[in-house]
Amino acid sequence: MDATPADTTARTRVTAIAGDGIGPEVMRATQQILAAAGARLEWEEALAGAEAFRKGISSGAPQETLDSIARNGVALKGPLETPVGYGEKSANVTLRKIFEMYGNIRPVRELPGIRTPFTGRGIDFVVVRENVEDVYAGVEHMQTPGVAQTLKLITEVGCERIVRLAAALAQAEGRKKVTVSTKANIMKLTEGMMKRVGEQVLKEYPDLVHEHMIVDNCAHQMVIRPEQFDVTVMTNMNGDILSDLAAGLVGGLGVAPSANLGDQVAMFEAVHGSAPQIAGKGLANPTALLLSAVMMLRHIGDFATASTVEHALYVTLEEGKDLTGDIAPAGQGGSTGAFVDRVIANLGRQSEKVPVREYRSIAMKKWPAITWYRAATTRELVGVDVFVESERDPRAIGITLAAAAEGSAFTLEMISSRGAQVWPDLGGNTFLVDHFRARFMFKEPPKGNGIAEITDLLQRIGRQHNWMHIEKLQRFDGADAYSKA
Ligand code: NAI
Repeated sequence: MDATPADTTARTRVTAIAGDGIGPEVMRATQQILAAAGARLEWEEALAGAEAFRKGISSGAPQETLDSIARNGVALKGPLETPVGYGEKSANVTLRKIFEMYGNIRPVRELPGIRTPFTGRGIDFVVVRENVEDVYAGVEHMQTPGVAQTLKLITEVGCERIVRLAAALAQAEGRKKVTVSTKANIMKLTEGMMKRVGEQVLKEYPDLVHEHMIVDNCAHQMVIRPEQFDVTVMTNMNGDILSDLAAGLVGGLGVAPSANLGDQVAMFEAVHGSAPQIAGKGLANPTALLLSAVMMLRHIGDFATASTVEHALYVTLEEGKDLTGDIAPAGQGGSTGAFVDRVIANLGRQSEKVPVREYRSIAMKKWPAITWYRAATTRELVGVDVFVESERDPRAIGITLAAAAEGSAFTLEMISSRGAQVWPDLGGNTFLVDHFRARFMFKEPPKGNGIAEITDLLQRIGRQHNWMHIEKLQRFDGADAYSKA
């Protein structure tokens, strides 16, 4: 189709959620700078956060806001508060989950003029955090009055999505290395899945160096030699913690931008909160939201304006004039307005200190809108773990459970307490709590689905013990699908 005059002036419509506290101030500041830089955007203002909660909207985001985000596919968002007494779910987490924004991108780049103990080391990497799975599923149960459990849900497709996103981001930014960081040495099935999928998927990207690093060492390496990192990818909680650590290396949360990416929607936001102490006083630093908006401009393909805005900011930070109080030398902090004027005055100037990086669009894989199902060629049911609450000692529990299994389809194999075997006794000195896992194995493979046999076993155990939870022990494609004691 030929370009018409209307095409050349086309604007991208973006949902703008100013949010709470300093949100409206940093949003206004960012919009002013983007307008002065000539960004072709049309803002659709939308509500979320404290005011929405107070209106009785339990998700913190009204339907009109959700519709606006769904329609536009791009949102810029300020910090959101969850006021006490209005439900306990964060509107931020709700938005990420509703729109399946599975990829959280946190660039970690040394900023000119912002002095840290790491200044001059050339830190320039990106933390890619899986954003919707893991313990953040929030599926928790009290197993006994004193023992709590959360489910760490990791899926193969979730790992594949985030690793592919990390690889695509590396390619888009001309980066060379992807470090998959996991706790696979301890959690072999969940964290191990991320490690295994990382190894498989990254084989398809021969232009990228792939390494695996145990996540605790990754935390250590980020502090002692942060310049070694290029792109790191992690499951949700590891990424949550290490992305904040990484932000601390380059000036802290107040200057850290982020993107939340999904197949349909991308939402860009500063990492910091609503800073209620300084809200409404004209003291807020808009840097983090502005850098998030720069990521947004690249996402919509406006690389030139992104670079113009980014460099005007760098020059402003380098010159050190009119900086806000959080980053200015003590006693010299200025206003948000003066900082905005200074950045606008610097539009068109290029930082000589920050190396130029060429960006391209991130080629994200489009995932089909179907229920993901992973088949297995063979499945065997080999036993069941039954979790019981008991104040008796393991020997007594062993005797009663073994007796309960007599005449059933199972034999009692072992009992563990918080993962350590306590029956048969291995001679250790495990501190005992009232929560035990009893592992029963089928004497011979069940003929049907095994449910009748499991029900019979549970009835036998229930006569003497309070059981609260069971897990089937299965083998998929010939491999044990459960951890050992
Ligand atoms: P915060 O990030 O609001 O404040 C921490 C410290 O950093 C304060 O001293 C604050 O004044 C300063 N600060 C933060 N951003 C700044 C900026 N742009 N300019 C100058 N100084 C800045 O964290 P806090 O106090 O833990 O949380 C306050 C509220 O924000 C809470 O209700 C929290 O739930 C919410 N929050 C929302 C987030 C989001 O929407 N993504 C993220 C973090 C917190």
